[in-house]
Amino acid sequence: MVRLLIVSNRLPVSVTKRANDLRFQPSVGGLATGLSSFRESHQSQWIGWPGISTDKISEKEKQQISNKLEVQNCHSVFLSAKDVRNFYHGFCNKTLWPLFHYFPLYTVYEDKYWQAYKQVNKAFCNSIVEIAEPDCCIWIHDYQLMLLPEFIRRELPDAQIGFFLHIPFPSFELFRLLPWRTEILNGLLGADLIGFHTYDYVRHFLSSTARILGAEHSMGSLTVGNRIVRADAFPMGIDYERYWGALENPKVRKRITTIRKKVGNRKIIISIDRLDYTKGIIERLEAFDLFLSQNPQYKEKVTLILLAVPSRTGVEDYMELRKQLEGLVGRINGEHGTIGWVPVWYLYRFVPFERLAALYNIADVALVTPLRDGMNLIAKEFVATKTDGRGVLILSEMAGAASELGEAVTINAQNKGAIVEAIKEALEMPVEEQTERNRIMQGRLSRYTVTRWAHDFLETLSNVKKTQQELSVHKLAIPTRERLISEYDKSSKRLFLLDYDGTLVGFASRPESAAPDQELLPLLKALATDSKNDVVIISGRDKTTLNYWLGNLNASLIAEHGAWIKEKGGNWQLIEPLRNDWKDTIRPILELYTDRTPGSSIEEKDFSLVWHFRRSDSDLAYVRTQELKDTILNLTANLDIGVFEGSKILEVKNLGISKGHVVELWLKKQKWDFILAAGDDYTDEELFAVLPQNAYSIKVGYSISKARFNVDSVGELRLLLEELIKNKSY
Ligand code: ADP
Ligand code: G6P
Repeated sequence: MVRLLIVSNRLPVSVTKRANDLRFQPSVGGLATGLSSFRESHQSQWIGWPGISTDKISEKEKQQISNKLEVQNCHSVFLSAKDVRNFYHGFCNKTLWPLFHYFPLYTVYEDKYWQAYKQVNKAFCNSIVEIAEPDCCIWIHDYQLMLLPEFIRRELPDAQIGFFLHIPFPSFELFRLLPWRTEILNGLLGADLIGFHTYDYVRHFLSSTARILGAEHSMGSLTVGNRIVRADAFPMGIDYERYWGALENPKVRKRITTIRKKVGNRKIIISIDRLDYTKGIIERLEAFDLFLSQNPQYKEKVTLILLAVPSRTGVEDYMELRKQLEGLVGRINGEHGTIGWVPVWYLYRFVPFERLAALYNIADVALVTPLRDGMNLIAKEFVATKTDGRGVLILSEMAGAASELGEAVTINAQNKGAIVEAIKEALEMPVEEQTERNRIMQGRLSRYTVTRWAHDFLETLSNVKKTQQELSVHKLAIPTRERLISEYDKSSKRLFLLDYDGTLVGFASRPESAAPDQELLPLLKALATDSKNDVVIISGRDKTTLNYWLGNLNASLIAEHGAWIKEKGGNWQLIEPLRNDWKDTIRPILELYTDRTPGSSIEEKDFSLVWHFRRSDSDLAYVRTQELKDTILNLTANLDIGVFEGSKILEVKNLGISKGHVVELWLKKQKWDFILAAGDDYTDEELFAVLPQNAYSIKVGYSISKARFNVDSVGELRLLLEELIKNKSY
């Protein structure tokens, strides 16, 4: 079995030091609690920070921590006080956390934080490289380590690397604010699979990669160098059985009895979170305050138990939040409380599982109202604990969990009035309705547990790796390359069928800027001058441009995907009579779309019209392309006209034209003893399809193709052609 390394900033155990004593405590937060359960069923090693800075401990204590954690299969990466300040409190929690949770005003952009982030990600990489095997599976978690996939990829190119983001991926409008957005995206793309909690986050990520890196995806798959990288949604589950079975634990039952004695028969509302401004705790309390004011009949009848676990206490915004919260609790209790009734019970601490489960179990209502939350496991844990079906979950629509828990009472966490109404609705909801809603959610949670989530992710990761391997089988590897060169040397009737854009030159933002460069022209000249070679440049370009750029070569040119042919030394000829009167109908439609889509343009050829949108906003262009395609297909249903999508283009052309058709003519010309064809897009697939078995067909780029071989890039194809003409005198 492939060895699994789990990597996260925080280990599942956090160490603190009090009065010279080291204390080891389970870490809080969805990542640590969720993954800890999965680990019990899957052999793995966890790499991360034990939560204490090296400046607070001696060398001996550091060793002690390492040894103790190593026994639990946890490998420690230590951070100094400076790292904690600049990396953890700094870039992680003052830059990425607020920005990704849509709090741009809390976001701090500091170069020293960024430098620390890079350096700590590097340190994690070094630790991993020390213990990882070349082909092991490395699963990296969360926003603290977004550069790590790329760092590891450089060191261990064959490793299976998965990345999971436990927080939201913000919309492009937010993400673009980050000065280091390109580096972060490139860092993530070092992984083979990038997972998110919801499909919205996947969409945001893909939109950012398209707009910032120009990397387009097809159904969530991107091509990065010679690798396919997938982005997909995997909503994290919980250890369902543990919560469902909690009541069987005598400690949980005892705790329930204790709480019940203290609260009496009042209704109980719970509010449980890490103390974080994203959780909407203040807004929730203000809503409870309003509820009590507007519903005096609930005076002394309801208690809100507010449990907040200390979190990131070194960050000013968190200290401020605590102060604000405690002030507000005091005010509400002072204003509404009576002798014998404290409306809000406030606890600021970590509590062990038994107490947490008892609280979930006894509560009539859970108020889970984050302003933004990647997932929110508290909501799921609460529902799972309700074995008798009673209890109402009030859930913010801004939590990732809302996409799965549709039967909860969902609210907009910014709308206090809506929370007030939801509290009332929940307290008064008939038991049958509570049970019905909970049963549906429980069914879902019991099926998609944390173990299933992890297996799903790891299985998809291994499938992505398999697809990569299948594609790499076609990579033009050294032995094939050598065979190709040797066959070339031995042959005397050689045919070269070369596409132009994306094959001999890279794409430019404007089609007219992709002229042949000073490297390409001599290369093609040398290739075409060899009397044993017949070079055919077979392009979708119009004949005037092609002639202007390449007309002086001793080569044949094919324009407009095969509509026009100019044989070596000859003139342009139409391959067969074609109609182009349809262009008058289609042109005004394309003009309309061009006006409505900034950055797009029209290219007109004799027998085709092309709509270019490389410089347009990719999301808008996507929508427009679909509309445009439908409109044109409707209009041309009875004509011999087709609509084709290429690389950032939509082309409308005569169906009779195809590169395959024209190449067939060339193949019949004589008995070729060496054929090399190269192309990069769908139009070249028609060409590859008609070639004889022994031809060397090469696709530039990595995706499924009819070509026998793939090369990484235009540069790699040019190197191959250079090698063919090397040392030959003409
Ligand atoms: P986040 O990951 O942002 O902290 P989640 O709701 O996804 O939010 O996860 C919180 C996790 O921390 C849950 O698994 C919950 O059981 C645990 N937790 C929250 N508050 C406490 C607390 N006071 N004591 C112990 N565990 C807690
Ligand atoms: C969230 C994050 C985790 C983080 C946890 C606790 O769940 O997604 O990555 O570990 O909060 O935060 P902390 O800063 O204490 O690790």
